[in-house]
Amino acid sequence: MVMTLRHLVPKTVIIGAGGFIGKHFLNAYRQTHSDLIGTTRAELDLLNPDIRALRLSENHYKEALILAAIPNIDRCEQEKGLSTKVNVTGTLQLIRQLADEGIKPVFTSSDYVFGGNAGNYKDDAPLCPNTEYGRQKAEVESKIGEITNGNHLIIRLSKVYSHVKGDATMIDEMASCLAQGKTVKAAYDQVFCPTFIDDVIAVTAILQGNGITRTVNLCPSKRVSRYDIAKALAEKMGIDKVHVDKISLDDMVFRVKRPKDTSMRNDRLTGILARLTNYHFTDISESIGIVGGNWKK
Ligand SMILES: NC(=O)c1ccc[n+]([C@@H]2O[C@H](COP(=O)([O-])OP(=O)(O)OC[C@H]3O[C@@H](n4cnc5c(N)ncnc54)[C@H](OP(=O)(O)O)[C@@H]3O)[C@@H](O)[C@H]2O)c1
Repeated sequence: MVMTLRHLVPKTVIIGAGGFIGKHFLNAYRQTHSDLIGTTRAELDLLNPDIRALRLSENHYKEALILAAIPNIDRCEQEKGLSTKVNVTGTLQLIRQLADEGIKPVFTSSDYVFGGNAGNYKDDAPLCPNTEYGRQKAEVESKIGEITNGNHLIIRLSKVYSHVKGDATMIDEMASCLAQGKTVKAAYDQVFCPTFIDDVIAVTAILQGNGITRTVNLCPSKRVSRYDIAKALAEKMGIDKVHVDKISLDDMVFRVKRPKDTSMRNDRLTGILARLTNYHFTDISESIGIVGGNWKK
């Protein structure tokens, strides 16, 4: 990936470089420009964003990847005022400042812009969020075009996971529970398109490097349920399937009800990748094998 990235990616500042996805991007994109900066809340607070001190144009930045956010579903609902300030008002202010400076924003959205009643949502499907988090993402999606005059990219992500042991991303968290002899509750009707972090980075680099604009559902084609993942993981780890409790999402107690089927179709991305590269997403079964192996006794 090093060579590919070096040749592809325009100089990109990482906004929100201290978070899970941000740390991975900063590491990878520093291979393209070793002096690349990533901001944490200390350098750029979305409650009052001001990009002047970053001296982006002066340092030849062309694009900005916006990963900073309050992404916790329950927190967005409980702290609606604060999360709206960060995820909507501040994010739109940041996008306006970037656009004024001629820097293309790459905004990270979510499959939660969809309500989850239908699934298989296309890139241009009407937005129909049913959580506050999803509504906030949808508001930025709907306003970004006018601010940037179309010079932006929205990458819409499903659940992102890594292969790193102990980072508590989706498969790792399940594997850790199973390894401790606990039972994992997994909903058969919570369906989505989990995506490996390295694929998110490589595909974003391809999209940026080829000047793609507008919205792309950035995920593999495969839709799976949480139950599918937990069951396959238990099998890989040699753990009795009684430790995977097959439930409905309706039986789970959440502060905020989760959407059921937020799976997305990746038609636009498939077309772009077929035209430009022979890139293939990591199959989730491979990831289940690797993460299961991390925790197998
Ligand atoms: N991870 C996924 O599966 C997934 C899926 C779909 C979309 N996304 C989107 O991808 C982006 C990155 O997600 P992530 O999983 O990396 O989240 P994360 O680990 O929670 O990182 C978010 C970062 O935003 C920072 N932040 C919060 N409030 C801020 C503020 N007022 N000003 C500046 N920075 C602030 C946080 O800093 P502190 O640590 O200081 O709070 C944190 O470093 C988010 O926009 C999320 O909605 C993620």
